[in-house]
Amino acid sequence: MPRHVAIIMDGNGRWAQQQGKRRTFGHKAGVEAVRASVRFAREKGINCLTLFAFSSENWNRPEDEVSVLMELFTFVLKSEVKKLNRNDVKLKVVGDTSRFGSKLEQLIHKAEKLTEKNSALVLNIAANYGGRWDIVNASQRIAKKVQSGELAVENIDESLFDQHTSLYGLDNVDLLIRTGGDCRVSNFLLWQIAYAELIFTDVLWPDFNEQCFEQAIQSFSSRQRRFGLTGEQIESSVGATC
Ligand code: IPE
Ligand code: IPE
Ligand code: MG
Repeated sequence: MPRHVAIIMDGNGRWAQQQGKRRTFGHKAGVEAVRASVRFAREKGINCLTLFAFSSENWNRPEDEVSVLMELFTFVLKSEVKKLNRNDVKLKVVGDTSRFGSKLEQLIHKAEKLTEKNSALVLNIAANYGGRWDIVNASQRIAKKVQSGELAVENIDESLFDQHTSLYGLDNVDLLIRTGGDCRVSNFLLWQIAYAELIFTDVLWPDFNEQCFEQAIQSFSSRQRRFGLTGEQIESSVGATC
């Protein structure tokens, strides 16, 4: 079982257009797939689920689509947070939230505060997130510490760098799923997916249900993760721990 699953929830627009509807209809329908994935992750004992909801590049979409997405985000935050809390889910929004405006920022802060002690599942919503932003942001934070004398350059290593990224403290991403048929990462987690298994599915996000999630997990379980070692080394170490 993967401990940390990340999902690029893609294909809402095409899902709606296939039915002759507006793209925003697809975003609304995608909310139910989010609920199903959270439920599934919690039931299966996955520790952490990170969902890509809005990228730093998505601001360049038509204004009315961006504003529907913001309204939807606000609505879902308001309507789902109590249920998430009851289900022991810890919610975290990752990304540069300063661009959302103070009202939405406050709502995010409140939701995070309410759920901060929960432990059944960590749910990260990546909003105004970009993998490059995350790396640049970490670099700036580290540079400031060097500048103030708090940190020596020689002490910058992978572990220290990781501590300054937005998913610090969580398990590495084991499995990255992208729906919608495209095989790319689109500036989602870059640093964190170094050794993730990647699964691309043609299913459009609003159609992604528990069965699809289960299939992805099965495919993940059937893979041998070698982390640079040989297959024989992995097999003998598995034998040794049994
Ligand atoms: C993903 O679906 C949701 C967001 C990017 C906010 P899209 O809106 O990208 O749907 P397609 O890829 O155009 O079908
Ligand atoms: C990635 O989807 C972003 C989210 C799912 C939030 P996009 O639809 O924005 O990605 P591209 O533009 O096809 O690469
Ligand atoms: Mg898309």
